[in-house]
Amino acid sequence: MSGNLPKKVQITDITGRDGFQNVKQWIPTEIKTAVLDQLAAAGIRKMEFTSFVSPKAIPQMADAAIVAEHMRTKYPEMELVALTPNLRGTQNAVAAGLKEVSYVISVSEAHNKANINRTHEASLADLEAIAKVSPELFINISLSTVFGCPFVGETPANRVLWLIRECLQRGAGSVTLCDTIGVANPVQVHAVVRAVREKFPDLRIALHLHDTHGMGLANTLAALEEGVDIFETAAAGLGGCPFAPGAAGNTSTEDMVNMLHRMGIATGVNLERLLGAVAIIREKIDAAITGRLASARTYSEFSFYSCKA
Ligand code: COA
Ligand code: ZN
Repeated sequence: MSGNLPKKVQITDITGRDGFQNVKQWIPTEIKTAVLDQLAAAGIRKMEFTSFVSPKAIPQMADAAIVAEHMRTKYPEMELVALTPNLRGTQNAVAAGLKEVSYVISVSEAHNKANINRTHEASLADLEAIAKVSPELFINISLSTVFGCPFVGETPANRVLWLIRECLQRGAGSVTLCDTIGVANPVQVHAVVRAVREKFPDLRIALHLHDTHGMGLANTLAALEEGVDIFETAAAGLGGCPFAPGAAGNTSTEDMVNMLHRMGIATGVNLERLLGAVAIIREKIDAAITGRLASARTYSEFSFYSCKA
């Protein structure tokens, strides 16, 4: 294993956006904010907590502005991000007081069409317009289907590099490499992250690894070994793109934090309090809990380990 693992990792929790968007039944706003409050109490300092998308596409996100108001007033110190698919959504995010958006584009044009009904050209044109209209706004690119697409299969790495360059030329400030359908494997993660790093050495990159095939944490380790120190995760392993057939939940925030802490990597997140957020989800939200830790004894509960600690 590489000796260059980061000492500290930033967890960007995406329960409020990716996590909730795939829950069919309406989650009342006060339940959403109760989960987000508990995540904040656990020490999460950056959240992608909603998206400003068409309520026809994702009815669950219809209360984005209300949730944004709650988060902004209650957590002025927190880095608050919303996902946006177009100029209109981004303007709504700015009007809600946000300073950063994750603007979504899929490397696979087929998925870009299915997800946001746009060509690359249209998505890039809006990105350019956004950067012009809101020069103060920080634009992260939520780059979907980086490792594979449900419609066309494995994604060629050169298309990833091409699209990153196009986005950077139009004002993007950072990029999240998303395994939207959870088909990446650790060897591929090593190769793609290394290729991106080589081409764009100064670019801040995050990883977003769905756990569809149970490889979320293995892929995380591969990314850590490449020096990645920002990961997007969702409590309880909620999430998935409703417009990507076969997509399943995220790597769970609690499993990620548990693994990192066990490896001696700091996150600033309190695991017990994080499990408090999972408990609210279990009790109030009709969704499968796929995170492992929530159904297991925690490390500290194993007495033979606690004796040694
Ligand atoms: N927020 C709210 N409403 C929006 C919007 C936004 N960001 N962008 C467009 N709309 C509205 C339009 O006003 C229009 O409303 P109307 O039918 O009442 O007139 C309707 O949505 C359709 O607008 P149009 O520009 O024709 O978009 P479209 O039908 O081609 O859909 C998107 C494009 C991007 C708006 C839509 O596909 C979308 O929101 N997708 C998000 C998918 C998603 O969140 N996936 C998971 C996260 S990766
Ligand atoms: Zn996702």
